[in-house]
Amino acid sequence: MKPIFLSLAAVLSVASAAPDGKQLFTIHCTACHMLDQMVVGPSLVEIRSLYNGKPDEFVKWSIAPQKKRPGAIEMPSQAHIGEEGLRAIYAHIMDVSKGVVAKKQEQGDPFAASPTQTVRPQVQRIFMPNASPASIAVALDDMNSLCWDAGNSRLRYAWTGGFIDGFAYWKGNGSSLATVLGTVKYTEQASPFGKDAAVKFLGYKVKGGLPIFRYSVGEQIVTEAYSPVSEGMGFVRSYAVVTKVPLVLDFPAQSGVSITTDKGKLEGGKLILTPAEAAAFTLTFSLK
Ligand code: HEC
Repeated sequence: MKPIFLSLAAVLSVASAAPDGKQLFTIHCTACHMLDQMVVGPSLVEIRSLYNGKPDEFVKWSIAPQKKRPGAIEMPSQAHIGEEGLRAIYAHIMDVSKGVVAKKQEQGDPFAASPTQTVRPQVQRIFMPNASPASIAVALDDMNSLCWDAGNSRLRYAWTGGFIDGFAYWKGNGSSLATVLGTVKYTEQASPFGKDAAVKFLGYKVKGGLPIFRYSVGEQIVTEAYSPVSEGMGFVRSYAVVTKVPLVLDFPAQSGVSITTDKGKLEGGKLILTPAEAAAFTLTFSLK
């Protein structure tokens, strides 16, 4: 046992000797800072112009941010990252912003009233209420959002209204939950593949700001993509399932929710599809 213990200690000491600025930036800053345009906070290009050659000032700001730009929200202190981590983030920002030109600001209010009200579709790894710690918050558009749980590969709930308020989360060390800014209109108690389905998360990617999740259910490989409805409230869920046997999915009826399918028939809360139909089908969830 002893050698294993020692080598783990060695790995840990190496990791703490050289914090990964890129990784820290992704975890703590990307939600509000983009490379070449202002979202919630200024672009990295602007940060470079203010802080190039001034790492101490940069660290000072990050630990104790000021209210500076009129209309912007207050940046939460990043003191919990520690000075060393902030210096690594500084090096990362200076590196990636070198020679980059800022995009012309899009029309509209460049300062969202909250980090959560940016209209662009977005996918965020964050701690969410009523979900496992591996949850992902998705804003499909400015009215429709959902929480997908990568811990057990299933949709937890969808809501309408605003997106999330991650302020408590960004301010702290990741132990707080984000707040849903809206009304939950649809909840799933179990995976449509069954309560006891052997699901395994295989990863996700983001295309055009929208998420595509991949997971397996026993022998079946599932791709589940989300997009906004063209009108009103709700979401569109496009599946591709590789299966050799007919697929039976559960979507128990819920008040205020109407579900339509482009393949097969949804009856009594069950959708039954042939393997050929399961290869590509789309469900539209309309919410009141
Ligand atoms: C919740 C959103 C949010 C997060 C997360 C966030 N920032 Fe900010 N940041 C802002 C806002 C908003 C401003 C502009 C504040 C103002 O001008 O009043 C800002 C401004 C800045 C500035 C410019 C300071 C100046 O002198 O104008 C720097 C540098 C900065 N942030 C660094 C960071 C770093 C580093 C991280 C991650 C460790 C981070 N921010 C995380 C929202 C955020």
